[in-house]
Amino acid sequence: MITVNTAVAEHSHDTEATLDRRVEALLGRMTLAEKIGQMNQLFGGDGAAARVLRDDIRAGNVGAVLNVVEPDVVDELQRVAVEQSRLGIPLLFGRDVIHGFRTVLPIPLGQAATFNPGIVRDGARVAALEAAAVGVNWTFAPMIDIARDPRWGRIAESLGEDPYLASLLGVAMVEGFQGDDLAAPGAIAACAKHFAGYGAAESGRDYATTNIPENELRNVYLPPFRAAVDAGVATLMTSFSDLNGVPATANTFLLRQVLRDEWGFRGCVVSDWSSIPQLSVHGLTACDADAAQEAAIAGVDMDMASGVYAAQLARLVEQGRVGLDVIDAAVAGILRIKFRLGLFERPYVEPQTMPTVALDERLQIAKQAALQSVVLLKNDAGILPLSPTQTKSVAVIGPLADEPYEQLGTWIFDGDPALSVTGLQGIRDLLGSQVEIRYVRALETSRSRSTTGFDAALAAAYASDAAILFLGEESILSGEAHSRADIGLPGAQAELVRCVRAAGKPVVAVILAGRPLVLTDVIDDLDAVLFAWHPGTMGGAALAELLFGVESPSAKLPVTFPRAVGQVPIHYNQKQGGKPPSPETTILIDDIPVRARQTSVGNTSYHLDAGYRPLFPFGHGLSYTTFEYSNLRLDHTVLRIGDALTVSVDLTNTGLVAADEVAQLYVRDLVGNVTRPVRELKGFRRVRLAPGETVAVSFRLGSDDLAFFGRNNTEIVEPGEFHLWVGSSSEARLHGAFSLVDAGAERATP
Ligand code: NOJ
Repeated sequence: MITVNTAVAEHSHDTEATLDRRVEALLGRMTLAEKIGQMNQLFGGDGAAARVLRDDIRAGNVGAVLNVVEPDVVDELQRVAVEQSRLGIPLLFGRDVIHGFRTVLPIPLGQAATFNPGIVRDGARVAALEAAAVGVNWTFAPMIDIARDPRWGRIAESLGEDPYLASLLGVAMVEGFQGDDLAAPGAIAACAKHFAGYGAAESGRDYATTNIPENELRNVYLPPFRAAVDAGVATLMTSFSDLNGVPATANTFLLRQVLRDEWGFRGCVVSDWSSIPQLSVHGLTACDADAAQEAAIAGVDMDMASGVYAAQLARLVEQGRVGLDVIDAAVAGILRIKFRLGLFERPYVEPQTMPTVALDERLQIAKQAALQSVVLLKNDAGILPLSPTQTKSVAVIGPLADEPYEQLGTWIFDGDPALSVTGLQGIRDLLGSQVEIRYVRALETSRSRSTTGFDAALAAAYASDAAILFLGEESILSGEAHSRADIGLPGAQAELVRCVRAAGKPVVAVILAGRPLVLTDVIDDLDAVLFAWHPGTMGGAALAELLFGVESPSAKLPVTFPRAVGQVPIHYNQKQGGKPPSPETTILIDDIPVRARQTSVGNTSYHLDAGYRPLFPFGHGLSYTTFEYSNLRLDHTVLRIGDALTVSVDLTNTGLVAADEVAQLYVRDLVGNVTRPVRELKGFRRVRLAPGETVAVSFRLGSDDLAFFGRNNTEIVEPGEFHLWVGSSSEARLHGAFSLVDAGAERATP
């Protein structure tokens, strides 16, 4: 159930008429050259490079600058725009503020694992305040591309595989960046990206082609963008990728029909970096002029970094190839953002007017986010938490145990590694001299193949009560253009696991990575696994508290962990197909009788060498306590279109420690006008329970929540039978059912 920030919507609605008047009045005074200038965003880079832009800014040839983060340079350029250009139109200053600015939160995929819009909103707010204080007024976030392929390096920046979760958390980020009022000091414009379909890149190779049928696009890839638009996101960025033969940057269907005509978006659409001239590299256009024409007509308002609009648009207008109405609409969208941001009234960097959050509090937010993002994948025999009283010594081993920079993850231009608390440091800070710590790096980097450090690792494990291995991927192995074909632990890390295992001590892995990894070959040699993503500045402090039981893990997987990379794409909300697999109808490769012509189990949809189940499903995440779900009840088993029903369960903490649980509601529409996913997440609640405590957890399910795009790609709510499940993962078993009926039909109560 998506709750839209109506405060944001109402605010922009209230000022819409005034905004329109201001935009129109200014447009009326602009020359064509000045209009085209607004559509031009240039790279600022370091101070020296940025200053080169002064003449162009003075001439009215620049609407936005990106990557300048020195407040004095921002002010200097802004002064030229405001005081020396003919119309005094202020500049936008854009920057990739993706998961924090100075204080770095977990990568977005880690934040998604919190299933906590509140902490995600707070994190974005902190990032906005830090960025605004140096002059950034526009971030290129959130990235809300649905990502079902862990090979894709940019899955790190995504909010995972689920449209509902990504919608909710994407909106939370927009709210955090933009606040209730974009004009308030400390608020910055958000940018929902990459519109659209980027996450479906063939074989997870970044920038590769995507082929997404319209029905799939509308049901899976577009909902987070729709939610962001409804929440008042100021801008959108087009994707680098080719969508069904028309690159997103020239895709009229996406940018005009869906975004403007259907959704009523009135903000600004920016291209990705040079994605306009790349239309010719794609082979859609033959030259820059054609590329600029296609992009402008499709509805790309601003050209990021390429200069092609500045070079081509005037001639294209003269030649009648691009209408003035297209230019005016683009410029109106850009001016609207500048007015909404209050830049005409407050163009300069004024940190003194901004709400401040003390460093300590910002670090606490980063720590909370990290605590709630680390997923306990496995915990055999309750090996975790380690007891600081019974564990007298630990071996801390691995290339990522003490790496202040690597734990920050991708896209942290402005992050300050000096603030980082590493895992090793976190353990030392928490335990002091209470526990003896033997630290062995063992591998130089996560990719190293040399095993020369392994003897020392084995010796340390042998001499200690437990071994904690900090494994995974360095930051550079994920993010833009950093895709992998093999998503196992890189280098000799799997060997390191087996080596340390030989010491016969409990072995706990803390895995830092920018994507789900295939852990199949090491999982049996590990007693417990905490999957920490890249947890950000306070990652190590959070990990120490989780390892030693100060706090219980509570995160849930926002993306499926495959058993083998060949299973990709594998996601929980798949379609069933006509021959679904089951334990009875599947046989694994080693069990097939020799010289068999046919297996006896029948023909179903799975891999002989991987089965059909993932290693860990979406929504999975263990705790140090146990939870029991019971007494599922629906207030109505017949739901009329237009109404809502309430689903409730009793949730009991049956273990010994207080902990958060994320209760999840899944629904299945049994028969549809188009085939429907086997399960879809429709609600979740994060609740804290003391040992022995029981709470009733309720979910409201409206008939609108059951809408989908049908055979002719219009949105429908279709009467029929539904199943639902509530529990602790996408494999929840507690089950109920209801019927959806026409508005006028009888409504039965149980
Ligand atoms: C390219 C990336 O695809 C995009 O996400 C980013 O915002 C821009 N570069 C600007 O850095």
